[in-house]
Amino acid sequence: MKYNLNPSDIEGLDKTALPSHVAVIMDGNGRWAQKKFMNRVKGHEKGADTVRMVVRTCREIGISFLTLYAFSTENWLRPKAEVAALMLLLKKFLVSEKQEMLVNNIRFNVIGETERLPDDVRDAIQHTMDATRKNDGMNLNLALSYGGRSEIVKAAKEIAAEVKDGRLSVDAITPETVIKHLYTAEIPDPDLLIRTSGEMRISNFLIWQIAYSEIFITETLWPDFTRNELIQILKEYQGRNRRFGRV
Ligand code: FPP
Repeated sequence: MKYNLNPSDIEGLDKTALPSHVAVIMDGNGRWAQKKFMNRVKGHEKGADTVRMVVRTCREIGISFLTLYAFSTENWLRPKAEVAALMLLLKKFLVSEKQEMLVNNIRFNVIGETERLPDDVRDAIQHTMDATRKNDGMNLNLALSYGGRSEIVKAAKEIAAEVKDGRLSVDAITPETVIKHLYTAEIPDPDLLIRTSGEMRISNFLIWQIAYSEIFITETLWPDFTRNELIQILKEYQGRNRRFGRV
């Protein structure tokens, strides 16, 4: 797929002050479909097109890390048919986008309880991760079967085991110790968190990592989210004054 961002599309965007990590809660697929009297799965299918557009746009603009919340630990509780449709879409996405990731130097990674995913999806993930391992143009992380609280519990258990084995003293535990045990150990915290469809919630997404992220919530439903809106949000982000608790 040819990339086609025109210079006029990004007029006013300061390429030297981009967020290095953008995280997105992609919400509103179901409502998009229901509004059109369609099955919810149609919303996810249209949502997958938005995923492709956002990946492409972030790569072209020069974002280094993009993390997309594609399936939460709570999403396992959805009707079986919807979960199966989402898994199929994910697999199709991995197969169809592998070549594009290779051509455009995108490294693919997954965060979450991947052991809970069906074998064929895990195989497709592993295959795409292996194939793109050497790429360094942009890191695309899909959060799959991901939950922030479970991630912190996982870190706590691993740290407790190190203390129990005498490899770590309790006094030596710092925020950096916790960070080392998160799925995102190698990734900087998100600078910018975008949520579509207007809900004012974090929904258990990267709850440790977003401590100082700038949050943008748009009313637009994920399937309707456009490249222009993404660029507008990036511009607005650049107008914000990040103080990290200082004055
Ligand atoms: C939220 O919409 C979205 C999801 C639970 C899944 C996100 C999946 C996609 C964007 C498509 C497939 C992903 C990839 C990476 C190909 P919702 O169903 O919660 O919408 P609602 O709140 O309106 O019901």
